[in-house]
Amino acid sequence: MVSLFFREIAQFGRALCSGRRGRAFKSRFPDYIQAVLIDSFFLFAIIHTKTIGDMKMTATTKENYELLVQQAKALVDGEDDWIANTANLSALLFNSLDNVNFAGIYRFENGELILGPFQGMPACVHIQMGKGVCGTAAKEEKTQIVPNVHEFAGHIACDSASNSEIVVPIFKDEKLWGVFDFDSTKLDNFDETDQKYLTEIADAIFD
Ligand code: SME
Repeated sequence: MVSLFFREIAQFGRALCSGRRGRAFKSRFPDYIQAVLIDSFFLFAIIHTKTIGDMKMTATTKENYELLVQQAKALVDGEDDWIANTANLSALLFNSLDNVNFAGIYRFENGELILGPFQGMPACVHIQMGKGVCGTAAKEEKTQIVPNVHEFAGHIACDSASNSEIVVPIFKDEKLWGVFDFDSTKLDNFDETDQKYLTEIADAIFD
């Protein structure tokens, strides 16, 4: 949509330079200035069209999430070792999701959350139930999407680069087993699409 807008600008530029108004516009400048102006105009339109096109290619879309879910399921299929499975899923998701600086799990053990396999900066080891975003997701057994962690009362900051977060509960035999935690350097990086597919991946761990 936005790239179409820039293509329109380029077409407008072409019309401007060839029509009556275009000729009047051009006659105000010497030839070499006209050339520079017209070239800059098209260059601006082309650069913006390409940048926006590239951004669309790397964004986390429904299509590439569906592929990611298949990859995640294939990784854990036939393997019962939870450390191997959560380590591999953390690596897959850390390297596949946009703007993510932490992807890892916390395991529910003896009434608290304990750090498990992850990718990112070193993180706090023990989280009490109800504390921070992870403890809240665990206590409520409900996904937490936090668009701005600085506005979440009690947020536990492990990496100062984090700005938004999603925490998805993991269940085994219908009981809380732990949580999958994802931090992002970008504000408002996660939405219901992330929740849907990350839940599908979390559910595949003990399937
Ligand atoms: N931010 C989390 C703590 C874990 S780190 O993000 C890795 C929280 O508030 O629970």
